[in-house]
Amino acid sequence: MQPNSSNNKWFPKTVYIATYGCQMNEYDSELVRSILKKDNYEFVTDELAADIVMLNTCAIREHAHRKVYGRVHSIRHARGKDNPVMIGLLGCMATNLRQDLLEDRSLKIDFIAGPDSYKRLPQLIREASDEGRKSYDVTLSEFETYSDVYPSRTQGGVNAWLAVMRGCNNFCTFCVVPYTRGRERSRSPENVVDEVRRLAAEGFKQVTLLGQNVNSYRFEDHDFAYLMDEVSKVEGIERIRFTSPHPKDFPDRFLDLMAANPKICKHIHLPLQAGNNRILTMMDRTYTNEEFLDLVDKIRAKIPDIALSTDIIVGFPTETDGEFEDTLQVAAKVGFDSAFMFKYSERQGTIASKKYPDDVPESIKTERIMRLNEIQKEITHLRNRAHIGQIQTVLLEPYPEAKNPGQMPGRTDGNKLVILPLGPYKGGDFIKVRITDATPHGLKGHPV
Ligand code: 5AD
Ligand code: SF4
Repeated sequence: MQPNSSNNKWFPKTVYIATYGCQMNEYDSELVRSILKKDNYEFVTDELAADIVMLNTCAIREHAHRKVYGRVHSIRHARGKDNPVMIGLLGCMATNLRQDLLEDRSLKIDFIAGPDSYKRLPQLIREASDEGRKSYDVTLSEFETYSDVYPSRTQGGVNAWLAVMRGCNNFCTFCVVPYTRGRERSRSPENVVDEVRRLAAEGFKQVTLLGQNVNSYRFEDHDFAYLMDEVSKVEGIERIRFTSPHPKDFPDRFLDLMAANPKICKHIHLPLQAGNNRILTMMDRTYTNEEFLDLVDKIRAKIPDIALSTDIIVGFPTETDGEFEDTLQVAAKVGFDSAFMFKYSERQGTIASKKYPDDVPESIKTERIMRLNEIQKEITHLRNRAHIGQIQTVLLEPYPEAKNPGQMPGRTDGNKLVILPLGPYKGGDFIKVRITDATPHGLKGHPV
């Protein structure tokens, strides 16, 4: 720590931030970096060299509780008594477990900031260091979009993440997000486009628009289709992606735009969650499996080469073997290009935690996820193999050469990873590639 010249007290100046969970959290860490850099804090890459360690936590699935407790104890332990450190908790777990955290004296958290309170971090840190008291702010806001903060992104990147809306109004019964991140709110299209222009000027080739429910984006009369169209007009940005949408918000207007606009990547992450109608109703997902399949048909009719990925939860309360089979069937019918699969994990405060006991045994959840995994792996392999022989445009990613000598990674428009032999190219280049091989994990190819 540095002595503070005005009162000779120790004053924290260097910060290390560890990020858990989703892309939105990664993005929020970039916002936090920007906010604290303005206040003259310096970011370091060595946790042991930092005056302040911040953990940007996630509460969606993991037993974040245990993980974070372990991490906090190990940070304190590694430092010992002579090398003090301030510890701050950010993110979804901060909101959700505020009370526990403040009451647990053994944990010694100095400050806590929820996802809508990052602009107050300089003040929270000052309170905690000057006055030696715990400080926290986890108030959720109906308005905070951080539209006036330009994130401090890693330099030289190819893709920039950009949050265009925050929060969720859906209250799917399993999900903690509406409680930890509050209601939906969107940034103005002008504000988003300004940021995209700046990103293009900095050399980014791709933007990924982010939101807990990104296609529910609405600002005054403007919907998500309007926003995507405006963003696509920015020169220099060649690819636009978005995540994560909800199946309820795919009007024809948006799909037609996607089909017609070459800059909008032909990939949709379409979370299925379950393929059985009783379970979908209990989850309050607002669609039946038939409606989901109809949507997939409609998407494929309009955009034949679309890549589809999904999220699936197994072992939701009361899910029977037969109902799980329905999920397998729907997944097989769709033939997703890839899937993220999760065992149901009860989250404190959610509707499901109040209404439905978590009664599917862990061993059954494990069996189900293994089966789903096996089947999905085959489907993914099949979908990847269909690319062999095709010519694809690949956007090269920045790559640390030492990691995979002789190789370069890139992504197709459909977001599939392609491994290429090293050539005279750099991250950010678009190259035409012939796909020569496929595995369940990605593609191999040669520049043509
Ligand atoms: N248990 C398991 N998976 C969950 N997800 C969200 N909440 C839970 C939960 N309680 C999954 C959903 C969501 C993804 C981001 O995380 O599949 O789409
Ligand atoms: Fe959670 Fe459902 Fe909102 Fe997604 S749409 S963040 S799963 S409540």
